[in-house]
Amino acid sequence: MARRLDFLRASILSLCMLACFIFSSADPSSVGVNYGRVADNLPDPKTVAQFVVKQGIGRVKIYDSNPAVLQAFARTGVQLIIGLPNENITTMAKDTSAAYTWVLKNVAAYFPATRITSIAVGNEVLATVPYLAGDLLGAMNNLHSALVNLKLDGYIKVSTPHSLSVLESSYPPSQGRFNQTWVDSVIHPILNFLVTTGSIVMVNVYPFFAYKGNPAEVALDYALFQPAKNVQDPTNNLQYSSLFDAQVDAFYSAMVALNSQFQYLPIVVTETGWPSQGDKDEGGSSVQNAATYNGNLVKHLLSGSGTPLRPGKSIDTFIFALFNENKKPGPLSERNYGLFYPDMKPVYPLNFTSGDHSSPGNSRGPPKKGGSSDGKFCLAKDGISDSQLQAALDFACGPGGADCKPIQPGQACFEPNNLHAHASYAFNSYFQLNHQKEGTCYFSGSAEVKSWNPSTTSCKWPSR
Ligand SMILES: *[C@@H]1O[C@H](CO)[C@@H](O)[C@H](O)[C@H]1NC(C)=O
Ligand SMILES: *[C@@H]1O[C@H](CO)[C@@H](O)[C@H](O)[C@H]1NC(C)=O
Ligand SMILES: *[C@@H]1O[C@H](CO)[C@@H](O)[C@H](O)[C@H]1NC(C)=O
Repeated sequence: MARRLDFLRASILSLCMLACFIFSSADPSSVGVNYGRVADNLPDPKTVAQFVVKQGIGRVKIYDSNPAVLQAFARTGVQLIIGLPNENITTMAKDTSAAYTWVLKNVAAYFPATRITSIAVGNEVLATVPYLAGDLLGAMNNLHSALVNLKLDGYIKVSTPHSLSVLESSYPPSQGRFNQTWVDSVIHPILNFLVTTGSIVMVNVYPFFAYKGNPAEVALDYALFQPAKNVQDPTNNLQYSSLFDAQVDAFYSAMVALNSQFQYLPIVVTETGWPSQGDKDEGGSSVQNAATYNGNLVKHLLSGSGTPLRPGKSIDTFIFALFNENKKPGPLSERNYGLFYPDMKPVYPLNFTSGDHSSPGNSRGPPKKGGSSDGKFCLAKDGISDSQLQAALDFACGPGGADCKPIQPGQACFEPNNLHAHASYAFNSYFQLNHQKEGTCYFSGSAEVKSWNPSTTSCKWPSR
């Protein structure tokens, strides 16, 4: 569905340069953070979860599936990418029942109260633990199959975060290409998997590394999204005003060079950031530059402008990192990417939302208008009390006349068997029966319209 919408949007973009502006401005990217925990002085997960909500941060990525963390984010509405650590990849690749057990214990046990949206399988495997490359797709496949068996594949995607260093060329952006060593054996098959399963591409993008590695050639202002001389791509004459956009587009070009179908894969930037401190040879690391980079990044993402190759296309992005992590090995910068100190005081001021009202989990703006051919669905909101959901469900299935047969035991949509999922199904049925009329997706504030299709292979959700 998402791919079809992108295609639709792409055609609209090329046809009517003015009208498309309405589309793009209604689809701002959302800003998330990486909650890394390689430290011995961080607040407990419950405190962190409340803190995240208060900051208006709607998305969080973690590097494992720590039970206390998953529990802490339950019923906060915060969307979570969880991680399978590199050291567990081989087991998941070789043993389907281990993969099934892992999903049962680390995903199914918490979902949907904890709003897990994806599993990041490993982190920068090709760049950091290349000997695991041969197991990566196998692990992804087995975890996805487990989600299918548990009927969770409609809600939770499987992907793997790549380092930008999997590109052997990234300049100019249109000429981005993957390292030949990995293309046929790993990267291309993984991209096929992402298309087949309706998943997303994950990539870690650090203009800081490019600047640090080559301060003579990379302009600091360009790396920091500051007004600077644009960099023009000589192949297509597109103008780049930030290295971030250039790097994202280089990755995009590398995908499209393999198969034009890959242009529809959504790109999620699973990490980006700038250190507030570094060693003497880590030029550019400073509080001022970190504040400038992340502040401009957030503005850029919330503007919904996209990148020159995909204008108006949102890029969900996770800033690295929530806290300074004192136990990270490596250069000084590694321990100083945090937006906050462990005592939760900001390292520098940063706003995560554009307006003064912060509404976590709802930073994507109002439901899109005019995209009805892609389907509109009415779903239960997160964070609604069980009693309120139950009352609304009773109304929908009773006097409301919704079709609630599919959520009865043994029927196609009984799984996942929980109140939130059943209420969503009933709300949506009612909403569709009433021809998606204004006000028929309300249920005393328990429901909201989404353009996200929750259907799975076995359970189809109606939409017009
Ligand atoms: C993941 O790896 C760690 C470290 O090797 C190990 O202790 C743990 O048991 C593994 N988990 C699974 C589910 O295999
Ligand atoms: C491609 O990957 C191989 C294996 O990791 C590495 O040795 C080589 O330097 C990379 N090539 C480029 C151009 O990055
Ligand atoms: C954050 O937003 C507030 C209110 O809109 C504003 O006063 C403040 O200057 C902003 N801070 C930064 C660092 O942008």
